[in-house]
Amino acid sequence: MRMYDLIDKKKNGGILSTEEMNWMIEGYTKGDIPDYQMSAMTMAICFQGLNDKETLDLTLAMRDSGDTMDLSAIQGLKADKHSTGGVGDKTSLVLTPIIAALGIPVAKMSGRGLGHTGGTIDKLECFPGFTTGISEETFINNVNHMKLAIAGQTANLAPADKKLYALRDVTATVDQMSLIASSIMSKKLASGSDIIVLDVKTGSGAFMEKEEDAKELAETMVRIGNMAGKKTAAVITDMDQPLGNAVGNSIEVIEAIDSLSGKGPKDLMEVVYALGASILVLSGGAKDRNEAIAKMQDCIASGKAKEKLAEFVEAQGGDASYVWDTAQFPATEYQVEVLASEDGYISRINAKEIGNACMILGGGRETKESIIDLSVGIYLNKKKGDFVNTGESIATIYANDKDKAQIALNRIQNAYRITKEAPDPTAMIKAFCGE
Ligand code: URA
Repeated sequence: MRMYDLIDKKKNGGILSTEEMNWMIEGYTKGDIPDYQMSAMTMAICFQGLNDKETLDLTLAMRDSGDTMDLSAIQGLKADKHSTGGVGDKTSLVLTPIIAALGIPVAKMSGRGLGHTGGTIDKLECFPGFTTGISEETFINNVNHMKLAIAGQTANLAPADKKLYALRDVTATVDQMSLIASSIMSKKLASGSDIIVLDVKTGSGAFMEKEEDAKELAETMVRIGNMAGKKTAAVITDMDQPLGNAVGNSIEVIEAIDSLSGKGPKDLMEVVYALGASILVLSGGAKDRNEAIAKMQDCIASGKAKEKLAEFVEAQGGDASYVWDTAQFPATEYQVEVLASEDGYISRINAKEIGNACMILGGGRETKESIIDLSVGIYLNKKKGDFVNTGESIATIYANDKDKAQIALNRIQNAYRITKEAPDPTAMIKAFCGE
């Protein structure tokens, strides 16, 4: 086989066979196929696309390019949840203890935050001592005994995707639906769960700004997951403004703990219940979405979900006393109020800009190597649809550097739009896919 012929075939609209896809991904991972040929191929894919069979073949070839988790030693159907990334997205911190407390095993692989979006691992590391660097044996034991474990992605998880993603990033070939879907799903499939529920975000803070693109991505990923033998569903959710009120790391953890105490913001809880209902229905933990939501609400009201979070934090080396006393999370040196410049309704909060403001404060990573300040963040006192008076606080900045706080303040002020007319209400849940 020659890479030249495969590029030429795809350029002319041909269909790559399973053998050709496997040969290409194996050769690229090993370094036998150079970047310049692979980038010609990804560009040809951008123009000609991949059909479902090719997308599945690409996904499976990337899944098999490195380590795959064998979770067969865990009893029952294991669930995983994945978000395409957003601002203020602490959904996993709230959802996973609820699902585990309801008896469904949750075996989750998480990532760190990059750019304007946060990551679950960084947030969990706000608990002193907490680690996601647990062995496969501990991971499996924990899921068997307490139904919940969260690990970091191993360095050798889908290495073909790592290499290909870096190449796409510099050759303007990221935004192709089959390439994105296979990239995300190769990692999810390598993680070994039986049930995969995807939270595909749409709006100003999301990777897929347009709802129709988010829908197409969700449908493509659900098809791949099901073809690969996993029970897969997706929920398309709003990310046109940050989720909940807290943006940062420890500040989001506190909001997640409050949510498990029954005091969660409405928009966050809507997303938690929508994703949780998909997991419970797919796993047989509830007969329909209504029963699933009632079970999750009872689980929070009984205190069992919060107890599960504490048990999980302790099992992975963290100080669980923080779950019961959130005042222990370190405070920042400065607290700065962002004031409304006029009377009116909040009609827009640009999520990406809020995420960027948090990054400026030191709460997010500009590069993979950046060290982040877990204590800084932004609390949105006003969200879309709220009325404000001139001079009222719309957001509070928690900072450890005065200059950075000033830059963040300007960004946050620009992220908010205030109008005389009230905006139309936003639907948090745009669509369900795959149930
Ligand atoms: N996230 C991924 O993991 N891969 C993509 O291609 C895009 C977003």
